[in-house]
Amino acid sequence: MIKKCLFPAAGYGTRFLPATKATPKEMLPILTKPLIQYGVEEAIQAGMDTMAIITGRGKRAIEDHFDISYELEHQIKNTPKEHYLNEIRHVIGQCTFSYTRQIEMKGLGHAILCGQSLIGNEAFAVVLADDLCHAKDDGVLAQMVKLYAKYKCSIVAIEEIPKEDTNKYGIIEGNEIEDGIFMISNMIEKPEPKDAPSNLAIIGRYILTPDIFDILKTTKAGKADEIQITDALLTQAKNNMVLAYKFDGKRFDCGSIDGFVEATNYFYKKEVK
Ligand code: G1P
Repeated sequence: MIKKCLFPAAGYGTRFLPATKATPKEMLPILTKPLIQYGVEEAIQAGMDTMAIITGRGKRAIEDHFDISYELEHQIKNTPKEHYLNEIRHVIGQCTFSYTRQIEMKGLGHAILCGQSLIGNEAFAVVLADDLCHAKDDGVLAQMVKLYAKYKCSIVAIEEIPKEDTNKYGIIEGNEIEDGIFMISNMIEKPEPKDAPSNLAIIGRYILTPDIFDILKTTKAGKADEIQITDALLTQAKNNMVLAYKFDGKRFDCGSIDGFVEATNYFYKKEVK
């Protein structure tokens, strides 16, 4: 039902300099797999087959990653090392990738708007690869797709955060209409704790209905003088229903060093030890 997934991936990754000087932050690995590949695998698991990636200058490695490397294939074919390529071969075989560049950094809302020509007029998912999610059964996007099938509206994934961290996230306010599902009445981008309407933070998983593009076109720059998806979603919530969904699973903020190390240890224990 939802076939396309958009990945904003134009950011500079300044918190990980110098590692991100010549390497896209989305390509930083947790164990042996780049962050963005985890996101693509989550989208595939949710039934999506078209990945729309919003890139920028210096992001060529992402395109090369989701392509065949003939030299590598030639070198390791029929050797004991061939299995190292299995996972990425599988990903490449399951979906198509298209790319467009965000040529100016004007915020997450602007990045999503840049993807309009790749998405067209259908509901789509958004994954921020920095937020690495792991769930036992259905991934977070698969959970959200199920919810979309029922409500047919935009949905954001949320989790409870410590109140002192509200200025790192979009924060929602809403009525709980089912267990863990909120109808949004207000949302604010990165409020100070004293101004935050709750401690329910948006994490980097969205399902958006395509009317969001027209809303984004008229959304004025907000927090940090950037076009914020949070502001556009609030406009959408005033006209239509927008839901917030407390997902099952764990999320790691791999845009921070603490979260990155935590994710590395978690996946190491799960997959290697
Ligand atoms: C973005 C969004 C914010 C959301 C966060 C989730 O912020 O603007 O609303 O809570 O992603 O990771 P960023 O982390 O890109 O500054």
